[in-house]
Amino acid sequence: MRHLLSTEDLDKAEAIRILDTAEEMAAVSEREVKKLPVLRGRTVVNLFFEDSTRTRISFEAAAKRLSADVINFAAKGSSVSKGESLKDTAQTLEAMGADAVVIRHWASGAPARLATSDWIDAAVVNAGDGTHEHPTQALLDAFTMRRNWARVNGTGSAGTDLAGMKVAVVGDVLHSRVARSNLWLLRTLGADVTLVAPPTLLPVGVEHWPCTVSYDLDETLAGGPDAVMMLRVQGERMNAAFFPSTREYSRRWGFDDRRLAALDAAGAKETIIMHPGPMNRGLEISAAAADSPRSTVLQQVRNGVSVRMAALYLLLSGDSTPAAPTQEATR
Ligand code: CP
Repeated sequence: MRHLLSTEDLDKAEAIRILDTAEEMAAVSEREVKKLPVLRGRTVVNLFFEDSTRTRISFEAAAKRLSADVINFAAKGSSVSKGESLKDTAQTLEAMGADAVVIRHWASGAPARLATSDWIDAAVVNAGDGTHEHPTQALLDAFTMRRNWARVNGTGSAGTDLAGMKVAVVGDVLHSRVARSNLWLLRTLGADVTLVAPPTLLPVGVEHWPCTVSYDLDETLAGGPDAVMMLRVQGERMNAAFFPSTREYSRRWGFDDRRLAALDAAGAKETIIMHPGPMNRGLEISAAAADSPRSTVLQQVRNGVSVRMAALYLLLSGDSTPAAPTQEATR
């Protein structure tokens, strides 16, 4: 793997290899091994043109656990405000020794532009570009689903896909790079996906996507999904005219206390509720749902470190086999 730009580019074998390597990384972390020396001497640059809590910090934690050096760059407060271009910014950071550039950008396609240009030689990881893709989010979501699916089926998760799993992705699909990356990856892994949203928050052409589309969350929940992924309503990306009122949105498309109680009453005890974060509590998800035993929100955050360790390891180590980290671990 040279770059990680999109889940649409990943075939099933590649996706499972990343998830299995993340299992190895998680196993090491669960044994309280603090650091692996596998990326000693390598430098990872976090190049963030948009705000982030989870993605930036978990890439930093992942790189440090692999013993890489980390440089954090935020566009706010940098020479980007003086008009410096993406090319000049990236070349400046590579001149400081970057082996991998983890980029989040408001423009869809910025990571691909960096990866396909001759501006830099570093590996490029897409940490979210506009409304296009957020591949490591989808990988950590799939990792979380795979672990829960294996628990429900009483199997191990290593080497497995998500065949037969039913996943509902609910909310602001129009602006969501998370929804797009999840859809491509979940389909590759064999899951059935239903997108549920107000008509105004679905993209043009969605009827050609490989999924079912619904406007009715209650009907979708009655079908017994194994995972319900609530999307953040991205107020910062939308024109007020798109938006149903917050009250209507919450009533028709929010995972509220009534829907949580309905799921409990239906005996759907294994259905998990997911959210990539950050959450708008009280809008797309109620506090009771976010904090319920069904919620995997914090599992997703934890798994994000393992998945990003796997991605950086596979990109930078030059190793074509999954990690065997226990042999070299440092405590
Ligand atoms: N899920 C996600 O990308 O969160 P951040 O914006 O905090 O990185």
